[in-house]
Amino acid sequence: TRSHNEMTEKVREIKQSFGNRLYIPGHHYQKDEVIQFADITGDSLQLAQAAATNNKAEYIVFCGVHFMAETADMLTADHQKVVLPDMRAGCSMADMADIHQTERAWKSLQALFNDTILPLTYVNSTAAIKAFVGKNGGATVTSSNAKQMLKWAFKQKERILFLPDQHLGRNTAFDLGIPLEKMAVWNPHTNKLEYEGNPEDVIVILWKGHCSVHEKFTVNNIQHLRETKPDMTIIVHPECTQEVVALSDENGSTKYIIDTIEKAPSGSKWAIGTEMNLVNRLIVQNPDKEIISLNPYMCPCLTMNRIDLPHLVWSLEEIEKGNILNQITVPKKISDLAVLALERMLMHV
Ligand code: 13P
Ligand code: SF4
Repeated sequence: TRSHNEMTEKVREIKQSFGNRLYIPGHHYQKDEVIQFADITGDSLQLAQAAATNNKAEYIVFCGVHFMAETADMLTADHQKVVLPDMRAGCSMADMADIHQTERAWKSLQALFNDTILPLTYVNSTAAIKAFVGKNGGATVTSSNAKQMLKWAFKQKERILFLPDQHLGRNTAFDLGIPLEKMAVWNPHTNKLEYEGNPEDVIVILWKGHCSVHEKFTVNNIQHLRETKPDMTIIVHPECTQEVVALSDENGSTKYIIDTIEKAPSGSKWAIGTEMNLVNRLIVQNPDKEIISLNPYMCPCLTMNRIDLPHLVWSLEEIEKGNILNQITVPKKISDLAVLALERMLMHV
């Protein structure tokens, strides 16, 4: 095994020798040991846009999770190869919407609501789900543009099926003034709408998925903080539950959280409800502010963390030897439809 310094040196050397033939996008939730080598850091939207506009890089070594690498593959040209340094870097939320369950749900929803529904999917979903959405006239959304895209969707149809994150869907619809009574959860296991009243009243159907990281920020955390540190401003990601978002002072996408903290005045005090690597980085980068995690135990995204320095070095060294391992390739018949959904988003933002 090599030392941290030897691995760091090796990544530098390979980046140097490949120049712009190699491109390393890094999501904000990645570890410092990896993010230090990123050619661009960003949230899901920024990384998708970066992939769509980069036509130079032959190798895109994606430091993020599987669905992001799939998106990069679909938005880049055929000769560009996308590599994920560890295939186990998935996303538990994306895995909560399986394509067979989704097709089955769609059939039942069509029977219930005829042709009045449009599907939208958070980019945190598999390429197959994006293809399903693209085929049915819908679009992808990210946490930065969910509100804008939901407004767009309501111009097309009177009802929306929002996949796979019920919390982002609920928070965004609520923000647009849609009352909670007009929203219902779709349970993919029972293939039923969880709703007591008349289904005709439901206009937002929320897939029963969630983010296991953001769900760890709780109402208890907020109550405790309000009692012990009442002068702190609480800011959370909209993947947190509606109750948590309602009790917080501010909520917004990863980019919104970063921008808000960066422009906040010196001496301001923040409790942040989002992934641990990002919160730790914000603490280090803003020494003039008092910043803590809203959940004192910190909340890492375990799958994001699978991309570490040893995996990054391994991927790069294999590329150097001419072996393209862990390449992410989305089959053309899925990609053609999924790109429709992605492009409907990209042209609105
Ligand atoms: P954004 O990057 O869109 O804020 O999404 C957060 C997230 O959970 C990424 O997996
Ligand atoms: Fe998925 Fe949540 Fe991790 Fe993002 S933070 S990759 S949504 S599990």
